[in-house]
Amino acid sequence: MSNKVGLAVFISGGGTNLQSIIDCCADGSIPAEVRLVVSNKSNAFGLERAKKAGINTFVFVRKQFPDEKTADNHLLAMMEKHKVELIALAGYLKMIPPALLERYHGRIVNIHPGLLPQYGGKGMYGLNVHRAVIEAREKETGVTIHQVDEIYDHGKVLAEERVPVFPEDTPEELAVRVLKVEHRLYPQVLKEISEKIIKERQ
Ligand code: GRF
Repeated sequence: MSNKVGLAVFISGGGTNLQSIIDCCADGSIPAEVRLVVSNKSNAFGLERAKKAGINTFVFVRKQFPDEKTADNHLLAMMEKHKVELIALAGYLKMIPPALLERYHGRIVNIHPGLLPQYGGKGMYGLNVHRAVIEAREKETGVTIHQVDEIYDHGKVLAEERVPVFPEDTPEELAVRVLKVEHRLYPQVLKEISEKIIKERQ
């Protein structure tokens, strides 16, 4: 078995960050392999990206389970089965259950398309963030990568990069500029964490 870190990526949508992670794992720039892609939506386009790359997918809909505990246990069992050591949230819009936070303490990370703690929290995702930034006439926005805890967009910040906002920007244009940075920064951070995990194993 390879010594690569077992990575799971959680998504809810298009999965462009997922794609950059898949590509960087495939070309060796992240010493990890995406072993599972989890989505709470069965029609998320990111699932197609995963299938195309030959990666296992799992659609996780909590309300399809009789109770929370059964749902949590099932999710944990999937992580176990695919030997997941690190979890990257990439546009995943659901809360991470406490059981998973406990099991993967410090090993769950998220990317946010803004400079936290501003423009974070519930409802602040995707274009909502960019819209709010433009409405507030900010001159700068950015990308934040942070550890995940039980509060939305709250855990320890691991990396941050600033992105300019221009007066004529639409939320869509700003999203494109921010995503470009996301696609570079997230793989960089995942590389560093993966290297650390491999070192810790030795
Ligand atoms: C990204 O902007 C990410 O920061 C946010 O949701 C968006 C997901 O985009 N959390 P994609 O699905 O990776 O294209």
